Amino acid sequence: MEFYLDTANTEEVKKASRLAFLDGITTNPSIIAKEKVDFKTKIQEIATLIDGKVWCQATGSTADAMYDQAIEMNSWGKKMVIKLPMNFEGLVAAGELVKKDVEVNMTLVNSLSHVVLAAKAGVTYISPYVGRTDDQSFDGQRFIREALQTIENLKSPTKVIGASIRGPQIAVDLANAGIDAITMSFDTFEKMVQSPLTDLGLAQFTQDWTNYMDDLKGN
Ligand code: E4P
Repeated sequence: MEFYLDTANTEEVKKASRLAFLDGITTNPSIIAKEKVDFKTKIQEIATLIDGKVWCQATGSTADAMYDQAIEMNSWGKKMVIKLPMNFEGLVAAGELVKKDVEVNMTLVNSLSHVVLAAKAGVTYISPYVGRTDDQSFDGQRFIREALQTIENLKSPTKVIGASIRGPQIAVDLANAGIDAITMSFDTFEKMVQSPLTDLGLAQFTQDWTNYMDDLKGN
């Protein structure tokens, strides 16, 4: 399973870059806008900070505009993934970019119809948004499981990346469902790492070790 963090914050990206298993950094226009710096500069900075893939989204509203933007963005780093919105214009642009061997992610995938169409377009990844689906009182994880099944039925090589993951247990459930990739905020990632039991256990080990060393020294 590929593992991504969804952030454009320089400190978070630097910290994340120390994780050997990190497959890359995903972004979206809202995440970039929060940083209040030039889009290209920001993406190029991320691409120099990490070894993995850098995902950035085309913001044009027509297929031609998205295509031109995607070709430009694809040169901003060595391993770029271009995100396109799951609509008609996005599908047209995707088809042309796939022909040029550009890695494309169809984002904002919200139905099994979207899954079928994006798979037919031959994109590398599709992103169903688990949290935002749950927000609308639909079952985000069920949608992911159905999307995985649809992709398998189609014998499509398109990978499913679970996005909008709002908590550690959701990430675990998606891993158990056999998802191809997940992306989450740095905050959710930190929640996956943290455990009060680990902190308490480590504090005890540290205390016992300090006492032992003191005893050896005859203190
Ligand atoms: C995916 O690539 C999206 O950027 C992201 O996962 C959206 O998450 P959110 O719904 O928490 O904003």
